[in-house]
Amino acid sequence: MTTLTPHSPAVERTAHLYDRVRHVIPEVEWPFFADNAEAIVRLKQERNAVVLAHNYQTPEIFHCVSDIVGDSLALAREAQNVEADVIVLAGVHFMAETAKLLNPAKTVLIPDPLAGCSLAESITAADVRSLRAANPGVPVVTYVNTSADVKAESDICCTSGNAVKVIESLGVDRVIMIPDEFLARNIAAQTGVEVITWPGRCEVHERFTAEDIRSVRADHPGAVVLAHPECPPDVVAESDLSGSTAQMLDFVVTRRPRQVALITECSMSDNIAAQHPEVEFVRPCNLCPHMKRNSLAKIRRSLETMTHEVTIDPTVADRARAAVERMLAV
Ligand code: 13P
Ligand code: SF4
Repeated sequence: MTTLTPHSPAVERTAHLYDRVRHVIPEVEWPFFADNAEAIVRLKQERNAVVLAHNYQTPEIFHCVSDIVGDSLALAREAQNVEADVIVLAGVHFMAETAKLLNPAKTVLIPDPLAGCSLAESITAADVRSLRAANPGVPVVTYVNTSADVKAESDICCTSGNAVKVIESLGVDRVIMIPDEFLARNIAAQTGVEVITWPGRCEVHERFTAEDIRSVRADHPGAVVLAHPECPPDVVAESDLSGSTAQMLDFVVTRRPRQVALITECSMSDNIAAQHPEVEFVRPCNLCPHMKRNSLAKIRRSLETMTHEVTIDPTVADRARAAVERMLAV
């Protein structure tokens, strides 16, 4: 175990938590986290709460105070099975809504209600109705990065981890796949199914370019390049593999490449590096401003004040839940 300079009793008492992140957080920074980390651990017990954290949360959230971590698919699956009274979703709003849809009896809290998503913002329920009217009989496959209103207008949801399987399960030759245009095109390239797309973009992944990948390869000839399927198709084409954040993690943990570039949000590399210092993570990466609205201080406040509670309009909840549950059954 790391021997911390005892700045405060909280620093000493949380040395076991610091140990989990010592490869990625300098020791001098831990005093800024220790009080909040300790308070969150205590509050979780008092409130009978669990913290679910997406792979893009910073290491002190991901490794030190979370009970369940994963990609969007894993968080949805796990949310269903939570027995605690309270779920704090350290991620973005659509993830908290999905948790509430799947486990409606629980109190679901989001530490910062402004943690949105450019994809979720790109489309409304009325847009989906127009797409359906223009393409009668074509099923609507909706990425989970959408509001409950949009999910309610959909036949089935998907995530980046199961999109191919979901589309192939429908047994049709055309689908409407919303709202991420790049994800839809990347997934279409892996199936024989024609996709009708919507011009939504992830503001984090759309910034990567094929030139970024070529310069990673020029500077680090041995590096394996893994790209998230929200990246532009030419970026995915230049990469060695494309997959969800959980699939990236699984690749690194099982294959242990000496050097790897994760073409995605920056915390992804930090969270794996915390446990695998033997792997060298090369850049580029981009930050998601929405995911980064979360912090230990906000998670603590969320548990202290029981805010911000996520609720779903009852007129859409059943239909939205059905689309998510259909996905989980595939
Ligand atoms: P996954 O973790 O499901 O791959 O999704 C990435 C993402 O951008 C979530 O906001
Ligand atoms: Fe949305 Fe992209 Fe941020 Fe994920 S990384 S929450 S898709 S903006």
